[in-house]
Amino acid sequence: MKVLVIGSGGREHAIAWKLLQSAKVQTVYVAPGNGGTGSDNRLHNVPLTDFTELADFVVRERIALTVVGPEGPLAGGIVDFFRARGLRIFGPTQAAAQLESSKAYAKAFMKRHQIPTAAYDTFTDAAAAHAYVDSHGASIVIKADGLAAGKGVVVATTLAQAHEAIDWMLGTDGAANTLGVQHNAGADGQAVPRVVIESFLEGEEASFIVMCDGKNVVSLATSQDHKRLLDGDEGPNTGGMGAYSPAPVVTPNVHAKAMHEIILPTIHGMAKDGVPFTGFLYAGLMIDAQGQPRTVEFNCRLGDPETQPILMRLKSDLFVVLMHATGGTLDEVELQWDRRVALGVVIAAHGYPYAPRKGDAIHGIPAETAEGIVFHAGTELRDGQLVTSGGRVLCATVLADSVKQAQPLVYELLQPIRFDGMQYRRDIGHRAVKR
Ligand code: AMP
Ligand code: GLY
Repeated sequence: MKVLVIGSGGREHAIAWKLLQSAKVQTVYVAPGNGGTGSDNRLHNVPLTDFTELADFVVRERIALTVVGPEGPLAGGIVDFFRARGLRIFGPTQAAAQLESSKAYAKAFMKRHQIPTAAYDTFTDAAAAHAYVDSHGASIVIKADGLAAGKGVVVATTLAQAHEAIDWMLGTDGAANTLGVQHNAGADGQAVPRVVIESFLEGEEASFIVMCDGKNVVSLATSQDHKRLLDGDEGPNTGGMGAYSPAPVVTPNVHAKAMHEIILPTIHGMAKDGVPFTGFLYAGLMIDAQGQPRTVEFNCRLGDPETQPILMRLKSDLFVVLMHATGGTLDEVELQWDRRVALGVVIAAHGYPYAPRKGDAIHGIPAETAEGIVFHAGTELRDGQLVTSGGRVLCATVLADSVKQAQPLVYELLQPIRFDGMQYRRDIGHRAVKR
């Protein structure tokens, strides 16, 4: 069978790599792909992003299944578009993808269905937003409504930071637009800047990702991301600088609570609202000292870089699982996991996350082994030379018996890699080691 993976990140490289392990899969296409999927002769990059062109390609090549990696095409309605043409695709519809693409939609949904999350209010008026933070005090969290590639959230520890965040998100100078926030349309159809302001949640974060076929749910292995750029969780928020799986903070008790208080009410709530959820559902959890999980955010896709360690641990045939997920028979699936831990370290470009530099030549990527692989993200082949082409460039991922053993292995794996301005964290997995 032939499969198409849509996207160009490390997550999509890992999905394609995993699909190739299926005895049922002959060819994996990646659209548009990256330098890693382009240089593996078992994978084929397809330089398409337009929905019509992609659907035409799927028909022409008789592709059995399409899997969507990133939120952009999902929020743009690619699943609706493919289904209308009778094509098999795994992901949420545009309406269901609002769980990620609109913070205001997600918060209202959680409130309506009593799903644990931070208390909040929504604002389009800057003066009202300023008054709200004054009355609530810091710490407080300001979020732009609309997709913002991880840059639309400010965790303000002082009132001054909170006011500044409101000014740039709701400001009339278009500052939020230049930072790439895609505003959502209001009731009148006009796209207006809107912010969600919510209370600060204490605790430890974990990524809780499940697969849904509209009614059945299968949970993937748990994981933990490292969102800040610098060691010790300092510096600006990023898309994620490294991850490992499983996350020990998700004890069996926390897992059961997350399923029964967050995931299942979400799936049932979406079905009840007439928007059945199909696809990967990612709940970003904040777990407090008492082991109570609350939802920080929903994503309607796999996490990046969480997918790289998660799929390295998956022993089941991903293609077979995805066919069940698109056929409404996920109740027949029980996923098998490697008992070892997997840990991935992201290597980012000079200037990431604000202004990543492109075009730096990359050298020294080690060959894949059974315990170590370097997934590509922002890379491309230019005249046969691998160069940087995005913020997060590579993700070195290893399997080991513990996080403590994985750490030296992953840094040994990435040691020969060289490009100008490369940056990576030296402490991925520090919370698990502390436990
Ligand atoms: P989000 O894009 O909503 O996941 O937010 C990005 C990051 O900001 C999260 O991963 C958290 O580290 C932090 N964050 C978001 N909301 C809250 C909150 N209510 N309390 C504490 N931290 C938060
Ligand atoms: N690593 C966080 C995310 O994928 O949203």
